[in-house]
Amino acid sequence: MEWDATYAIGQSAVDGDHQRLFQLFNQFSAAIAAGERRESANRFLRELADYSAHHFRREEGLMRAVGYPDYAKHKAMHDSFADFVRRQSEADNHDLEEVQFLQSYVEMWLCGHILVMDKWFGEWLDGRTGKSGAAEPIS
Ligand SMILES: [Fe+2]
Ligand SMILES: [Fe+2]
Repeated sequence: MEWDATYAIGQSAVDGDHQRLFQLFNQFSAAIAAGERRESANRFLRELADYSAHHFRREEGLMRAVGYPDYAKHKAMHDSFADFVRRQSEADNHDLEEVQFLQSYVEMWLCGHILVMDKWFGEWLDGRTGKSGAAEPIS
Protein backbone atom coordinates (compact mmCIF):
# COMPACT_ATOMS: atom_id res chain seq x y z
CA MET A 1 0.00 0.00 0.00
CA GLU A 2 1.51 3.28 -1.11
CA TRP A 3 0.67 6.39 0.82
CA ASP A 4 -0.14 9.44 -1.25
CA ALA A 5 -2.05 12.69 -0.87
CA THR A 6 -5.37 11.12 -1.86
CA TYR A 7 -5.40 9.47 1.59
CA ALA A 8 -4.81 12.70 3.49
CA ILE A 9 -7.74 13.99 5.52
CA GLY A 10 -5.92 17.16 6.55
CA GLN A 11 -5.44 16.35 10.25
CA SER A 12 -1.74 15.73 10.70
CA ALA A 13 -2.02 13.43 13.73
CA VAL A 14 -4.65 11.29 11.99
CA ASP A 15 -2.72 11.27 8.71
CA GLY A 16 0.43 10.26 10.60
CA ASP A 17 -1.43 7.35 12.21
CA HIS A 18 -2.72 6.21 8.83
CA GLN A 19 0.80 6.28 7.40
CA ARG A 20 2.01 4.16 10.30
CA LEU A 21 -0.81 1.66 9.65
CA PHE A 22 0.30 1.46 6.01
CA GLN A 23 3.86 0.90 7.18
CA LEU A 24 2.82 -1.97 9.49
CA PHE A 25 0.87 -3.52 6.63
CA ASN A 26 3.81 -3.21 4.22
CA GLN A 27 6.20 -4.80 6.73
CA PHE A 28 3.74 -7.68 7.06
CA SER A 29 3.48 -8.07 3.28
CA ALA A 30 7.27 -8.04 2.92
CA ALA A 31 7.61 -10.70 5.63
CA ILE A 32 5.04 -12.93 3.90
CA ALA A 33 6.90 -12.51 0.63
CA ALA A 34 10.04 -13.62 2.46
CA GLY A 35 8.25 -16.78 3.61
CA GLU A 36 7.80 -15.82 7.29
CA ARG A 37 4.11 -16.51 7.34
CA ARG A 38 3.21 -17.69 10.80
CA GLU A 39 5.53 -15.46 12.81
CA SER A 40 4.74 -12.40 10.75
CA ALA A 41 0.97 -12.92 10.94
CA ASN A 42 1.11 -13.17 14.73
CA ARG A 43 3.31 -10.11 15.01
CA PHE A 44 1.18 -8.12 12.57
CA LEU A 45 -2.05 -8.97 14.39
CA ARG A 46 -0.52 -7.84 17.70
CA GLU A 47 0.82 -4.61 16.22
CA LEU A 48 -2.37 -3.95 14.31
CA ALA A 49 -4.54 -4.51 17.40
CA ASP A 50 -2.40 -2.11 19.47
CA TYR A 51 -1.88 0.56 16.90
CA SER A 52 -5.42 0.59 15.49
CA ALA A 53 -6.81 0.84 19.06
CA HIS A 54 -4.56 3.85 19.64
CA HIS A 55 -5.57 5.38 16.33
CA PHE A 56 -9.31 4.77 16.79
CA ARG A 57 -9.15 6.36 20.24
CA ARG A 58 -7.49 9.43 18.78
CA GLU A 59 -9.92 9.73 15.88
CA GLU A 60 -13.01 9.10 18.02
CA GLY A 61 -11.76 11.58 20.64
CA LEU A 62 -11.42 14.21 17.96
CA MET A 63 -14.91 13.44 16.66
CA ARG A 64 -16.46 13.72 20.10
CA ALA A 65 -14.60 16.95 20.79
CA VAL A 66 -16.10 18.59 17.71
CA GLY A 67 -19.55 16.99 17.92
CA TYR A 68 -19.25 15.03 14.67
CA PRO A 69 -22.81 13.95 13.73
CA ASP A 70 -21.75 10.59 12.23
CA TYR A 71 -19.71 9.61 15.27
CA ALA A 72 -21.81 6.58 16.26
CA LYS A 73 -21.76 5.04 12.76
CA HIS A 74 -18.06 5.70 12.41
CA LYS A 75 -17.26 4.20 15.80
CA ALA A 76 -19.32 1.10 14.95
CA MET A 77 -17.05 0.55 11.93
CA HIS A 78 -13.94 0.87 14.08
CA ASP A 79 -15.43 -1.57 16.57
CA SER A 80 -16.23 -4.11 13.89
CA PHE A 81 -12.67 -3.93 12.54
CA ALA A 82 -11.28 -4.38 16.07
CA ASP A 83 -13.52 -7.46 16.41
CA PHE A 84 -12.20 -8.83 13.14
CA VAL A 85 -8.59 -8.38 14.30
CA ARG A 86 -9.35 -10.02 17.65
CA ARG A 87 -11.08 -13.01 16.01
CA GLN A 88 -8.13 -13.46 13.65
CA SER A 89 -5.72 -13.40 16.59
CA GLU A 90 -7.75 -15.97 18.49
CA ALA A 91 -8.14 -18.25 15.47
CA ASP A 92 -4.36 -18.57 15.20
CA ASN A 93 -4.84 -20.17 11.79
CA HIS A 94 -1.99 -19.10 9.58
CA ASP A 95 -2.07 -21.36 6.58
CA LEU A 96 -1.40 -19.63 3.28
CA GLU A 97 -5.05 -19.11 2.40
CA GLU A 98 -5.86 -17.55 5.78
CA VAL A 99 -2.86 -15.24 5.68
CA GLN A 100 -3.76 -14.09 2.18
CA PHE A 101 -7.31 -13.47 3.34
CA LEU A 102 -6.01 -11.44 6.29
CA GLN A 103 -3.78 -9.44 3.98
CA SER A 104 -6.54 -8.69 1.47
CA TYR A 105 -9.13 -7.89 4.10
CA VAL A 106 -6.91 -5.45 5.99
CA GLU A 107 -5.78 -3.73 2.80
CA MET A 108 -9.34 -3.38 1.55
CA TRP A 109 -10.65 -2.19 4.91
CA LEU A 110 -7.93 0.38 5.52
CA CYS A 111 -8.10 1.86 2.02
CA GLY A 112 -11.88 1.90 1.91
CA HIS A 113 -12.32 3.25 5.41
CA ILE A 114 -9.76 6.03 5.03
CA LEU A 115 -10.80 7.05 1.51
CA VAL A 116 -14.50 7.16 2.32
CA MET A 117 -15.27 7.42 6.04
CA ASP A 118 -12.22 9.24 7.35
CA LYS A 119 -12.13 11.61 4.39
CA TRP A 120 -15.78 12.33 4.95
CA PHE A 121 -14.92 13.39 8.47
CA GLY A 122 -12.03 15.52 7.16
CA GLU A 123 -14.33 17.25 4.72
CA TRP A 124 -16.90 17.87 7.42
CA LEU A 125 -14.15 19.38 9.58
CA ASP A 126 -13.00 21.58 6.71
CA GLY A 127 -16.55 22.85 6.28
CA ARG A 128 -16.80 23.58 9.96
CA THR A 129 -13.57 25.56 9.97
CA GLY A 130 -14.38 27.26 6.68
CA LYS A 131 -11.58 25.77 4.55
CA SER A 132 -12.18 25.49 0.83
CA GLY A 133 -13.70 22.44 -0.82
CA ALA A 134 -15.68 21.49 2.24
CA ALA A 135 -19.13 21.62 0.76
CA GLU A 136 -18.24 19.07 -1.95
CA PRO A 137 -20.05 15.79 -1.35
CA ILE A 138 -18.02 12.59 -1.79
CA SER A 139 -18.79 11.20 -5.23
FE1 LIG B 1 -11.98 6.03 11.07
FE1 LIG C 1 -8.61 6.45 10.60
